[in-house]
Amino acid sequence: MKRLPFVTKEQAEQIAKVYPTPFHLYDEKGIEDNMNELLDAFSWNKGYREYFAVKATPNPALIKLLAKGDCGVDCSSYTELLMAKKLGFSGDKIMFSSNETAAEEYVLAKELGAIINLDDITHIDFLNEVAGIPEKICLRYNPGGDFKINNQIMGCPADAKYGLTNAQMFEAVEKLMAMGVKEFGIHAFLASNNIGNGYYPELARIIFELIVDLNKKTGAKFVFANLSGGIGVPYRPEQEKVDIYQVANGVKEAYNKIIVPSTVGELALYTELGRYMLAPYGGLITRVLHFKHIYKEYVGVDACAAHLMRPAIYGAYHHITVLGKENAPSDKVYDVVGSLCENSDKFAVDRNLPEIEKGDLLFIHEAGAHGHSMGYNYNGKLRSAEILYKKDGSFELIRRAETPKDYFATLDIYDEFKD
Ligand SMILES: Cc1ncc(COP(=O)(O)O)c(C=O)c1O
Repeated sequence: MKRLPFVTKEQAEQIAKVYPTPFHLYDEKGIEDNMNELLDAFSWNKGYREYFAVKATPNPALIKLLAKGDCGVDCSSYTELLMAKKLGFSGDKIMFSSNETAAEEYVLAKELGAIINLDDITHIDFLNEVAGIPEKICLRYNPGGDFKINNQIMGCPADAKYGLTNAQMFEAVEKLMAMGVKEFGIHAFLASNNIGNGYYPELARIIFELIVDLNKKTGAKFVFANLSGGIGVPYRPEQEKVDIYQVANGVKEAYNKIIVPSTVGELALYTELGRYMLAPYGGLITRVLHFKHIYKEYVGVDACAAHLMRPAIYGAYHHITVLGKENAPSDKVYDVVGSLCENSDKFAVDRNLPEIEKGDLLFIHEAGAHGHSMGYNYNGKLRSAEILYKKDGSFELIRRAETPKDYFATLDIYDEFKD
């Protein structure tokens, strides 16, 4: 199956004339259409809200684009909370899902009125000490064991550092009620990048059953279930996009079966999707600089793992299109590599591609989430620009590329690096 980029070679070259490669390019139309489909699929739930996982792509222009669909933000750190604040988010529009949280992070989250999602039972006293307990709070659940869908093991929560055990959930709810909490939510994230349609329905079942049980035994009032992130995207061309309507209907079935007949009452559904919201609608565009013929055929490009590290750290597959050669036969085999002094810095290994020439532009797909944001400066590499490809065909710089000055910014303690 052919996977086509959202820009042509001519359009990419036009952008490259203004902003040199490498750069991350995002597709405004794709992002909006996908978001509207998600909102429509979950519209059966009155309180539904997507809290975009800021860590996936912390760019103000993209967060504002999602805010047009009334999406909130899911923040995981002090700086992400600050970004949310600068973009005008506050109160229920911020979910704060953090781990090993520092005092200053809870203080800021509380100040902003964010919904605080506690990752551990010991954080109850800690939060109380440093910021006070809010009236509405969320608890992150870890059911332990293996997480299975139709008997297939999808993940192993027992090995994950996140969340409270089942027994701790009961203890925590009772303790928090005694401390004045009036409304609760439950959060869980049990497996990542799920490309079947069964993940959310099974997760919802687990969370809903827990909520019914907690409500029955403690009398606590539950107002939302947070299904977090975890819906995957088809990185490989032979994979298919999740059917979000089927996913939402599966969650609805679990809701009707478990929540409706219970004493819980209406429950809002929240999601914290990152990858699903943006990964397919972002590409890393890089130019071919060199060829190397040794024991293998190497194509050297001007991007490296510092711009997209998933292949280097997870061996992740990212599809590559040679722009302008979309219909050419993929009859050559290349390793496409970056310039880091790391042998893992390979965007593709033994990949069938059309014949590549020096100067060609490569479009590396599904780089729109956990792409630019995971970038780093190893080898003195500078992080690239981010550009929005707009619905009217124009393009807008939404983050400039780093310069050596940015690289030296934290060395301004020394005179020679001051400017
Ligand atoms: C707490 C939390 N929420 C949401 C997400 C987003 O996950 P994804 O991008 O897989 O949807 C993550 C990812 O690490 C996360 O840790």
